[in-house]
Amino acid sequence: MPNEPQPELDWKDGVIPVARAFDDPYFSLAGGFQETRHVFLSGNGLPERLCDGFHVAELGFGTGLNLLTLALAWAQTGRPGQLRFTTFEAFPMAAEDMARALAAFPEAATIAAPLIDARRAGKTEFTLPAIAVRILLGDARDTLPRWEDRADAWFLDGFSPAKNPQMWGEDLMAEVARHTAPGGSFATYTAAGHVRRALAAAGFAVERAPGFAGKRHMTKGRLAGAPEPA
Ligand SMILES: C[S@@+](CC[C@H](N)C(=O)[O-])C[C@H]1O[C@@H](n2cnc3c(N)ncnc32)[C@H](O)[C@@H]1O
Repeated sequence: MPNEPQPELDWKDGVIPVARAFDDPYFSLAGGFQETRHVFLSGNGLPERLCDGFHVAELGFGTGLNLLTLALAWAQTGRPGQLRFTTFEAFPMAAEDMARALAAFPEAATIAAPLIDARRAGKTEFTLPAIAVRILLGDARDTLPRWEDRADAWFLDGFSPAKNPQMWGEDLMAEVARHTAPGGSFATYTAAGHVRRALAAAGFAVERAPGFAGKRHMTKGRLAGAPEPA
């Protein structure tokens, strides 16, 4: 395994991992799978926009639940080709902890095995059926500025801005915009004003949208420009 520190976890209700250092759960206590579909997929206009070569990037890989939800949505489109998924993670979870967390989502659990196997083997680049995955280990504030690529859609999924402010700063949001293809998008569960303002200052047309499970708002946005043909 790489040198990045593994997170210390508590388990809420025995199933939801909570990062002790941030005192925050990895996904919604109200249903992580549906939350991912609502916030990160619908917020980015997915699965409608998905096509061969479409590139999703994520801040905060965590359990891999977002990746697996995307993989299922992509498979259900029946479209040919392969997606790309690049995710930035400073504190990679142990494979066994990922497996324990994902077991709570039968839909995701059915396709989790190759992901768990790849992580157990310490791999950071591997292919799930029809998705090429790359995990960039390290603090996103260091790794994203050096990344030489651009995403068509971003999942901004750090812990809450109050508990994990380093994942939501102006400089990092500017790097997200700089690494977004023309016409590309982001979505996040948070509606924190300073995050919205940072993303707008970075160049996104930012909108509030209804949040998941009783949360009033989430945030989504688009960069100007026509999407590039796949
Ligand atoms: C809410 S969890 C992500 C949940 C995840 N997307 C999933 O599907 O399970 C937030 C993640 O951000 C990571 N993180 C926190 N600060 C970070 C930083 N500065 N750079 C990179 N990753 C960070 C945490 O280790 C954690 O895995």
